[in-house]
Amino acid sequence: MKGRKILVTGGLGFIGSHTAVELIAQGFEVVLADNLSNTTEAPLEGIEAITGQRPVFEKVDLSIGAEVQGLFDRHPNFDGVIHFAAHKAVGESVREPIKYYLNNLGSLGLLLEQCRTRSIVHFIFSSSCTVYGEATRLPIDESAPVQPAMSPYGNTKQVGEEMLRDAVRAYSGLQVIALRYFNPIGAHPSAHIGELPLGSPLNLVPYVTQTAAGVREQLQVFGNDYDTPDGTNVRDYIHVVDIAKAHVVALNRLMQHQNTDAYEVFNLGTGRGSSVLEVIRSFEKVSGKALNYRIVERRPGDVTAAYADTRKANEVLGWKAELSLDQAMEDAWRWEKKVRNLND
Ligand code: WQD
Repeated sequence: MKGRKILVTGGLGFIGSHTAVELIAQGFEVVLADNLSNTTEAPLEGIEAITGQRPVFEKVDLSIGAEVQGLFDRHPNFDGVIHFAAHKAVGESVREPIKYYLNNLGSLGLLLEQCRTRSIVHFIFSSSCTVYGEATRLPIDESAPVQPAMSPYGNTKQVGEEMLRDAVRAYSGLQVIALRYFNPIGAHPSAHIGELPLGSPLNLVPYVTQTAAGVREQLQVFGNDYDTPDGTNVRDYIHVVDIAKAHVVALNRLMQHQNTDAYEVFNLGTGRGSSVLEVIRSFEKVSGKALNYRIVERRPGDVTAAYADTRKANEVLGWKAELSLDQAMEDAWRWEKKVRNLND
């Protein structure tokens, strides 16, 4: 359909694949670009199983100019870009900062150059609550100061937002929405797609489900001596399907010229904080399984608490998270059992 062809970079990743499902459901034609550095092509089957449509997949390294040029030459008529593709492991970014800057910021620059030369004016950017660092007040709203980044990964999100602000000022017509995710978790309720990081998970929820599935020996809880009700860190865990739907709402906002500024930022969260122990209790409740975990030392770089003030997304963007922590844990567990061929 004219005017509805969207490039989804990182489209085979966790949030990208779920967003592709919601875009297809809304009648968009999607092209998924991915370098397969943190996924396989398996999500293509999952997306097709859910939607009945197999999106076009392009294996592309978006940090290489010639490959980006070729992608846009093969698809000269994109009406918008949703840019997920990025390395996102905080710890790895500390060890390999240049890899993160070249990939995360290099790819963004090359994409923006294509948008400029081809007059593609609708751009959605995958940003992160990590830009807030250790926020001084909770819940965190979009006017909260962007603190010095706690990692090179977080800095690539901060600098990425600055690049977009500068591009919007320089290139007339470009319209951008940056979405600052809190903690995306869960899986599509069909269990055809979900979170499947390559190697040992760094994020909490896949580590919980892999421990319960027997893939991991024991969950280590990084500290219980924080200034929180039960001593463990508090985060705003938001179902990945809610996150995906927000991207379609944001894209439609731009395509229907409803945005009030050429560059807009929205937090994507539930507005509710949950501690690590509360996540564990939720999992045990929905799965009926006791989780094997123990408290260990704090993880460097962890902030004590972060959860979103969701008013701007609710009232301006017109989007609200609808799914609960328990539903996310139930969907994550169903996905894990499917991946591991477990029946119980
Ligand atoms: C959550 C809590 C850990 C693992 C992540 C990404 C960041 C951003 C937001 C995309 C913390 C604790 C974890 C484990 C644990 N995503 N934990 N044992 O650090 O809030 O941020 O999501 O932009 O890039 O890093 O998420 O899931 O790693 O940790 O106790 O084995 O779970 O200490 O309190 P985080 P996380």
